[in-house]
This record gives sequence, structure tokens and C-alpha cells, in this order.
Amino acid sequence: EESGGSESAEGSGGDELISIGFSQVGAESGWRAANTQSIQDTLTEENGFDLSFSDAQQKQENQIQALRSYIQQGVDVLAFSPVVETGWDAVLEEAKSAGIPVILTDRAVDSEDDTLYESFIGSDFVLEGEMAGEWAVEQYDGEGYKMVELQGTTGSAPAIDRKEGFGTAISGSDIEVIDSQTGNFTRTEGKQVMEGFLQKYDDIDLVFAHNDDMGLGAIEAIEAAGMTPGEDIKIITIDAVKDGMQALADGKINYIVECNPLLGPDLAEIAQKVVAGEEVEKRIVVEDLAFDQEAAVEALPDRQY
Ligand code: AHR
Repeated sequence: EESGGSESAEGSGGDELISIGFSQVGAESGWRAANTQSIQDTLTEENGFDLSFSDAQQKQENQIQALRSYIQQGVDVLAFSPVVETGWDAVLEEAKSAGIPVILTDRAVDSEDDTLYESFIGSDFVLEGEMAGEWAVEQYDGEGYKMVELQGTTGSAPAIDRKEGFGTAISGSDIEVIDSQTGNFTRTEGKQVMEGFLQKYDDIDLVFAHNDDMGLGAIEAIEAAGMTPGEDIKIITIDAVKDGMQALADGKINYIVECNPLLGPDLAEIAQKVVAGEEVEKRIVVEDLAFDQEAAVEALPDRQY
């Protein structure tokens, strides 16, 4: 699935457009849709870019293939959000040999050699997990809660880091993690995994879902099992996209830590600087908020995504 990439890379003012090849993870979640829109809305011809965009459908081999084809086309800049953390060195070396700078957005790569990319723009996922876990401890420590975890895509930075951050925050509390499985960041798989948990355990008090969509799937499973999400089983998620925020305002989710998907403007700025040969920051951390029910009710009317 590819789009964009016009033949004539010439702006109306006669300036050369910056050609940029972007390989997106997929379309797995509301967060990803908002992230894609931010990138496509910002990297426009009007703003000086000739964007080629491809969707890897959550498959690393598709991303590597897309990156290789952008390298072959000789784009000015490569950008991507790596579906998993490991296995990127070879293709990043190829970009480096071709003299094409790489910018990472949203997710990190686990590479020893940080000269393989110019900059990494995105949230601190460990911190997001910690924020979620700290709230759980504040609210529920002392109740002997049994928790299940819906993990994001296996091997992805947000799944690894959010699990770690949450685990650190609840260690020392009496919240007990009785099971943890991947729901691949999608609503459908989140629902399926939660159905399995509900069949296996009759004493679940709390769900920690690594994103809103899996939490929304869990809500469906809990309701189908005749229970009330947010009351019989508490739910904490990450993202704060519109559907998640609505469920929080409705009392079906209890707490959401934000992950800001609007990375387009930072990507545009860094790409321009890199092409102009200017120094850029190696790590740009995007700040995230957190919402309880009251804060969600207040924020919802102005929520962009
Ligand atoms: O990498 C960011 C994560 O990916 C979002 O939290 C999740 O919704 C998305 O699929």
C-alpha cells in the first residue's frame, strides 16, 4: 500500500521540495489513524514536502521493503515508526551508505549504533507506564486487586516500555498481575484476549491495557459477560484518543495516560533542519498528560483526535 511521490518535485515558488519517504506501522488503532493524519496534513507540498507514504500493516518485512524502495528512489529523508525494536541495523546501514538521513518517529529502534539515525521524536513510553501504575497504586493499593494486562505488539517499544514502567510503579503494592498477553494494539484482539481471561479467571478486578483500543475491546468482552466495566472490573489504558476519552467520561474506563500522536509538525521541522545540514536534537520527547473521568469530560469537546 503506497501513495504519494509525485514526479515533479517542484514547488510553486520554484524551490525544490524535500522528498521524504515515510513508512508507517499500520492502521491498528485510533492513535495510529491520528498519527497518520498529522503526518499527511503537515508534510504537504504547500509546506515544502513531497511525501511518499506507505502502510506496513504491522509487518517488519513490509517496512524494510518500503525503506529499501525509498532508498532506491533516492529520497532526501527517510522517516519511519518501527513496528518492533530490533532488526533494523542492515537497512539503516544501507540508508547511511546512500547518504540518506533517517528520522524515527513514535517508536525507537534497539540499536547499539546511534549514528544510524539523526533524531527520534516521540513519547517516553516508560514514563507513560509509570504514570498509569502510580495512579493504580494510589487508587487501589490495599484492596488485594488481581490484574490482567493486555500488552501491545510483541517486541514493540511501547509494549516493552509500558509493561516495564507499570511493573516498576506497582512493585511493592498488593496489586497482583495474574496474567498478561498481547492484543497487538487492536480492538478485536483486545476483546478476544479479554474473553479468554474472563473464561479462565472469575476474580479479575483490574485491566491494564497498553492502548485505548484494546481497552475498548475489553469493555465489549466484560459487558458481554454480564459485568459493568469501570465498576466490577476497573480499566486503565494509554493513548487518550476520542473513543477512549468518551469511554472514560462514561465511566467505563477509569484512567487514561495520554500518548500524543500529533508528531507531524516536529517531523517537518527536524526534516527541514537535517536537509539544511543543521544540528538537530537526537531525542525529542513529546509531553503527555493524564485524565480521570472529570478531566475527560472537560477535555472532550476540544479533543482533536
Ligand atoms: O506506538 C504508539 C502506540 O501504537 C499507540 O499507543 C498505540 O495505540 C499504537 O498502536
